[in-house]
Formats: sequence, C-alpha cells, structure tokens
Amino acid sequence: MLTRSLINIEAGGDAAGSRPADSDALVGEFAHDLMRALSTKPHGISPKYFYDEPGSLLFDRICDLPEYYPTRTELGILRDAAADIAAHMGPRAEIVEFGAGSLRKVRLLLDAMDRPARYLPIDISGEHLARSATSLQRDYPGLDVQPVVADYTQRLLLPAALPGAGRRVGFFPGSTIGNFTPAEALHFLQIAGQVLRGGALLLGADLIKDPAVLHAAYNDAQGVTAAFNLNLLARANRELGTRFVLEQFAHSAFYNAPQQRIEMHLVSRRRQKVALGGECYELEEGESLHTENSYKFTIDSLRALAMRAGFRPGPVWTDENRLFSVHWLHAPG
Ligand code: AVJ
Repeated sequence: MLTRSLINIEAGGDAAGSRPADSDALVGEFAHDLMRALSTKPHGISPKYFYDEPGSLLFDRICDLPEYYPTRTELGILRDAAADIAAHMGPRAEIVEFGAGSLRKVRLLLDAMDRPARYLPIDISGEHLARSATSLQRDYPGLDVQPVVADYTQRLLLPAALPGAGRRVGFFPGSTIGNFTPAEALHFLQIAGQVLRGGALLLGADLIKDPAVLHAAYNDAQGVTAAFNLNLLARANRELGTRFVLEQFAHSAFYNAPQQRIEMHLVSRRRQKVALGGECYELEEGESLHTENSYKFTIDSLRALAMRAGFRPGPVWTDENRLFSVHWLHAPG
C-alpha cells in the first residue's frame, strides 16, 4: 500500500553536506552553483540541473532517439535476463531504486520476481517521486510502495527490513553512475553497500566502445541533446532571471578517451557578459561551461570499482554488441 505521507529522511550530519529538498532552496542552490561556475575556471556545473520539467521531457525524448542506444539496450538486456535476475533476487525480495527514474525498467523486474515484498524508490524531488510511486502503485496494488525523499549521494537511512522479507536489492540503472567522478562513484557505492548490507546491487553501466558510436549518441541529428544541454541556460533564465541568449552558445559533446568519458559543454560563440546575483561575468569567445561528464566503463573497470567499495562481483549481462552492461554485485555482508 502506498503510504500517504512521504517519508522524509534527513541526510544527517553537517549543514554543508545536506541537500535542501524544497524547491525554493533548490533555486537558491542553482543560483549559488551557477555563480560559482561562472566565477571559477574551468567553468563547470552539476548535470543535476538539467532535470527541471522541460529538461526531463527532453531527456525522455533523448531516450527514444535512434542514436541514443543506452536506454533501449538496457531495457533489452533486462527483458532477456529478467528471469535469471529474479532467480538471483529470490523470493520476497525488496527493490531499493536510487533515483525515481524509469518505471519501465523496474516493472520488468517486478513482473519476473517471486512475490516482491516492497519497492523503495529514493529521489531528491518529492513531487516527481510521488507521481512515479502513485502510477506504479496503481499497476501493482498488492505491492508495498514506499517512496523515500532523500539525496542518495549523502548518508542514507532506510526503513527497517520487513518481517519475513527476502533480499534487499539495490537498483541503479541507466548508467547514472557515469555522471559521478570516480571518487564520487566510489563514495556512492560505499553508501549503497551500507544500506544494502547482505543483499545486492543491480547496476547498469555504459561500456567503452567505438568513439564514433559514442559521439553520435550525444550529437543526435535532431538536436535534442543540444536542446537538453542548452536547457540549463533556459532554466537559469526562467528561474534566476538571467538573460542568456541561447543562440550565443554552442552544444559541444565529445569523447575524452584518456578519461574514458563523454564531456558535454556549452561553448560561448562570442565574447559576452552575463549578469547574475548583482555580479557581471564575462565569457570569452570559445570559453566553455562544462555541464556533464558521462563516464564509460569496461566490465572489469566497473567490477574493480565495485570491489573497492566492498562489493563482490557476480554475473554480468550484456547485449550481443556489448554496448551496455548490467551487473549483479553482492553487497558487503
Ligand atoms: C542519464 C546520465 C545516463 O550520461 O547518457 C544523455 C544523460 N546526457 N544525453 C547519459 C545524458 C546527454 C545520461 N545519463
């Protein structure tokens, strides 16, 4: 049954480390982070600011693009491996999803599982979370759905295990782990290891491949990824009253091979000035705002990272072209 009030779990600890969950505070945080980005070099800001309402809709469109293989490939892997994955989960398992992302993916798991006990989606955005949870609850009336409003990159507290429950299995699909630096990814895995103790993590990770294929996935012909990237400035105009002229910025996405990551940037097409928070910032022609990293992995590099966080690698499922990987990782005992 869907609990009416969302469980609010404080990230705990110092004020600097906690993340405000209400939207006014998030606007303040966006302003703060954008001012910091514009006043330090190289300019860089977290990709989390892509995902306001219009940005989330653009991301949904990206997932359907012919060039953007990750979503459809991961869905195919999960579909093909669902019975096998469900067997690893065992009876009465509960799923803890990091991010209230694509309910399409978790449905594939729930449909294959033996009497799933509970679903705990964790997300920083209470509104988005509540909507996803309600729509899932409608289709799985017997499932215990408990959304948790929290920032899973910080310390995390989850409801205690249900009596008679099976394994607790974390689910982190979409290669979202690729948005973290290696140090942040390690930190995330350590936090996940703590809440999944004795259970497992099912993790989706995009694989290193022909740079031309990677390049196309982030430079689609319809320009949806460019619009998604530029939405960061559009959002600043809407929420912070900046006057970015979007035409004066170019979408740039390329594979940085030594760092094994796609980088997205917004490159200033000319010398220009931007006002924000009573300050004026100047951008040179060709100067960039680094908006996203999307790290790519080999099966072994992902497993090595997980082992450093105390996980023991289990089976890995991939597609026939080895574009994407889904990992079963045993959590520390
Ligand atoms: C949601 C972070 C997995 O890195 O591929 C898609 C986001 N950025 N196109 C990715 C994204 C540009 C996506 N992740």
